[in-house]
Amino acid sequence: MLERLLAVLKARFGSAPSLAEEPNGVGVLADMADRRVMRRYLDRPVDPALVETLCAVALSAPSKSDLQQADIIIVRDKDQRDKLEALLPDNPWVKAAPVFLVFCANNRRHRLLYAWRGQPFVNDHLDPFFNASVDAGIVMGTFVAAADRVGLGTCPISAIRNRAEEVSGILELPDHVLPVAALGMGWPSFAGVMSPRLGLDVTVHHDRYDESGLREKIAAYDARREAVQPYKSQRLTEKFGQSDSYGWSEDKVRQYSVPERAGFGKFVRGKKFNLD
Ligand SMILES: Cc1cc2nc3c(=O)[nH]c(=O)nc-3n(C[C@H](O)[C@H](O)[C@H](O)COP(=O)(O)O)c2cc1C
Repeated sequence: MLERLLAVLKARFGSAPSLAEEPNGVGVLADMADRRVMRRYLDRPVDPALVETLCAVALSAPSKSDLQQADIIIVRDKDQRDKLEALLPDNPWVKAAPVFLVFCANNRRHRLLYAWRGQPFVNDHLDPFFNASVDAGIVMGTFVAAADRVGLGTCPISAIRNRAEEVSGILELPDHVLPVAALGMGWPSFAGVMSPRLGLDVTVHHDRYDESGLREKIAAYDARREAVQPYKSQRLTEKFGQSDSYGWSEDKVRQYSVPERAGFGKFVRGKKFNLD
C-alpha cells in the first residue's frame, strides 16, 4: 500500500516524500492523492439521503471561530436547474450531472445575531467576506473528499460566478450571502484522468517563503505534464498562434488573457459586504 501511495504522489508531483514507514490510513491517502475531477456520469440517480449525508459530513469541517458561515443549496427542482444551467453555456456537461449543489458563503446569520440583540456589528470590513468565503471553500473541499470516498464523482463550477447576479436572483440569496461555487455530482462513467500538479518544491515551503529556481521548476513541470497529459487543443490561437510546445504555463497565460468576472467585486459590494 505504501508503494501505491508513493507511486501516486510521484505521478502527481514528479517526486514523493521519502516516507519509510506506512502511515495509518495509507489506502485512503493514496485514494485522496489519486482523485480526479469528474464531468461524465452514469444515468443513475443518487439517493437524496446520501447527498444530505455528504452535506452533513462536509459541514463537519473546521469553521472559522465556530461561526458556521457555509451553506449548501441542493438544487433538485427542474425549473431551478434549468434556469441555472442556462447560465452555464460553457459547461454543457452540467446538464448530465444527477446532483447540482451550490456552496454559499453566509455572513448573514452572524449579523442577524447582533440585530436580534440590538447590538452594532462592529466588524464590518473585509474580514467577514473572507472568513465566510474560506469556510465555504473548506466545506466544498470536504464534500468532494467525502463524495470520492463513496465512489461518487464531482466537479466544482465557479462559472456560476460569471453570472453571480442572476444566480443570486434564482436562488433568492439575501444580502451577505454569496455563491462561492456550484458542484456537479454523480456516479462516474469512466475512471477520469489524474492531472499532475506543480512540484512539491514549488508549493511546499520550509520555514519561509522560497521562490528560488521558480522559472526552471515551472518549465520542468510544463514538460512533465505535457509528456503524460498533453492539452488536446490550444486556447485562443487567433491571438497567440499555434505553439510547438504547449504546457500548463502557456495554457494559464492564454486562459486569463481575457478579462473574467471583473464585475464580481461590484456584485459582492451590492450584497452589502464592505471590502475595505
Ligand atoms: C473552485 C473551483 C472552481 C472550478 N470551476 C470549474 C468550472 O466552472 N467548470 C469546470 O468545468 N471545472 C471547474 N473546476 C474544476 C477544475 O477545472 C479542475 O479541478 C482542474 O482542472 C484540475 O483537475 P483535477 O481536479 O482533476 O486535478 C473548478 C475547480 C475548483 C476547485
